[in-house]
Formats: sequence, structure tokens, C-alpha cells
Amino acid sequence: EKGGYEHFMLKEIFEQPRSILDSMRGRMIADSDHLMMSGIREYENKFAKAKRIIIVACGTSWHAGLVAEYLIEDFARIPVEVEYASEFRYRNPIITEKDIVIAISQSGETADTLAAIELAKSKGATIFGICNVVGSSIARATDAGAYTHAGPEIGVASTKAFTAQVTVLTLIAMIIGKKRGTLEETKLRQLMVELETIPAKVEQCLQLDDQIKTIAAKYKDATNFIYLGRGYNYPVALEGALKLKEISYIHAEGYPAAEMKHGPIALIDEQMPVVVIATKDSSYEKVVSNVQEVRARKGKVIAVVTEGDTTIPSMADYVIEIPETSEHLMPLLSVIPLQLLSYHIAVMRGCNVDQPRNLAKSVTVE
Ligand code: F6R
Repeated sequence: EKGGYEHFMLKEIFEQPRSILDSMRGRMIADSDHLMMSGIREYENKFAKAKRIIIVACGTSWHAGLVAEYLIEDFARIPVEVEYASEFRYRNPIITEKDIVIAISQSGETADTLAAIELAKSKGATIFGICNVVGSSIARATDAGAYTHAGPEIGVASTKAFTAQVTVLTLIAMIIGKKRGTLEETKLRQLMVELETIPAKVEQCLQLDDQIKTIAAKYKDATNFIYLGRGYNYPVALEGALKLKEISYIHAEGYPAAEMKHGPIALIDEQMPVVVIATKDSSYEKVVSNVQEVRARKGKVIAVVTEGDTTIPSMADYVIEIPETSEHLMPLLSVIPLQLLSYHIAVMRGCNVDQPRNLAKSVTVE
């Protein structure tokens, strides 16, 4: 049932070219201009007129929500708030009928997310769900929604569900942007063409597995890790740190790279591996400075860069080269090496990667 893989998590990481493709199948055909999601069709006008979109989720799904905040604000110019479901529901939030709430959940059973939905519903907001499990409680509690077609995710650490969520959210952001006229026709076309190439590029990222194993062997005994990223790669830094924590039990923190100087930089010494996502995008030059700051304090730099980059490699201890893509789609690629890194470190430390201690696949308690 693990299809020849040692663990479900590894199998699921390697399934991503397929699960991403399945999550866009029928919803987008780049060269025919087809961009449509049945779940959203009836609500397109409502989305287009929304004054605000609130995203509620937990854990990895919350990280996908952060990527969506950047996408929706960028393409559709609608203000987005991303909330931990557990915080949202307990703080008397301001919700009106003009709001759209997007709830993201792999299992569709997360108690806090479900409760946040019920609260928003009682205030008259429109609730849109993005779930992986068909017929789950959250899928049933929403007014409309779109499924991620990642297939069953067995490993407790979420991997293919995350990239499927980001894929579906990218399509939604494009659909709303198109409807509102805030996403230029030529840019939309380019994005669609680029999105279609993502599964093949994820495949290329997976070929880095052996190289990443070498890096894992080098740092498996570290007691702390820092993950840095900016812009679209900031949520990826958070996700990389969460993956490492949950399956290897190494303390890890994800930070927006520029925030490092406001505190976490004090932690950096020669013992500290710092994973920096430094792909070629609008914040690249700034990330180069952040890498210099880490180097100056003797931190060990493991950099995820765009193929062909020469600047960061001259400064890093280890370099992981991933294919080029639009910065809007980069999380779908940059998260892959981080998933593999945490997987290999956890295996080398003898951890039970598919069922880490203290964790359950669906968190049905508050
Ligand atoms: C991380 C992880 C958890 C879940 C979180 C939300 O790898 O698995 O952080 O992402 O419990 O679960 P869902 O998406 O099922 O609501």
C-alpha cells in the first residue's frame, strides 16, 4: 500500500506532480483559455463584490491560507485576512454578510476550523470550503467549495494536501482576478501557461532527493533550525519549520527573513543551520543581504535557489537548485526540498515519520 516507498510520507511527497495535476484537471486548460471551477461558479459575483475575504484554518492549511492572501490580494485586489481558526472563534471577530470566509482543511474534521465556520455562518457570511476529504464535516458545513484532489493523505505530516490547497487557491485567485478585471489578460495567460508546467517542475525538484539526503546527514544532529523566506516564500519558511518540528522533534522556527534582525539573529552561531529560500523574485536582493547577515555570524546556510543563480551559491554552505517559475507559483516548488529535508532528517534520527508522537491526523478536539 506504500507503493514501494518506506513511508507514506515519502510516497505522498512523490505523488505531488500527480496530485497537483489532479487538483487543476478540468479547471484550467491554458491554451484554450479555459478557467473554471464548478464550486465557485454560482458564487463568482459574490466573490467579485466581496469587501473582504477571511481565511480560517490551522497548521499547514493555515500556511496555504497565507500563500492565498498574497495571491488574492495580488490578483483580485480584495483585502484578505488569514486567521488561526482557534483565535478567530474566541475573540468576538467582526463578520458581516458582505464577508466571504474561506475555510481550508485537509481532513475536513478539524474542530476549531469547524467551529469558526459555524460562528461566521451565524453572522451571515458566505462560507467557502477547501477540503480534501469528500463528504467531511467541514465540506458539509460550507455553502460552497472546491475539493483538493490530492487523494488520501495517510502520513500525519501534511505534504501533498498543502500543494493541492495552494493549487486550488491559485485557481480561485485567478478566477476572481479575471472576473474583477484586476488581473490583466496577458498576465493571466502567462500564469495559466506557467501553472501547467508546475507538475513537471515538481518532478524535477523530487530528483534532488539524493542531494538533500546528504544535507540531512550533515545536520541531523542539530538542536535548532531557522527557516527564512520573504514574500511568497515566507509561508514556505513557516511550513518547512513546522515539518521539521513535527516529525524530527528538532526545534525549528520560520521567520520572514527581514524580521531576523529584530530578535532571532541573536540565536545565530556556528551551530545554527539556517535554511534560506532565496529564489529569483522581487525580494531576491533583500534576501541576499539577509544571507550575508547570517554568514557574518557564522551561521550555516542551506539555500534554496533558482537554477543558474551564482550569487547565493558563493555564500552558502549547501545549495539546492530548483527550476525557475513565476514568484506567484514558487511555493509549489520551494516547499518540496523542505519536505524532503525534514523527512530524511527524521528517518536518520530514527523517528516514526508517519505517526509522530503526540500528533493525530485529524484534530477533532479543541
Ligand atoms: C501539519 C499538519 C497539521 C494540520 C492541521 C490542520 O503537517 O498536519 O498542522 O495541517 O492540524 O488539519 P486540517 O487541514 O485537516 O484541518
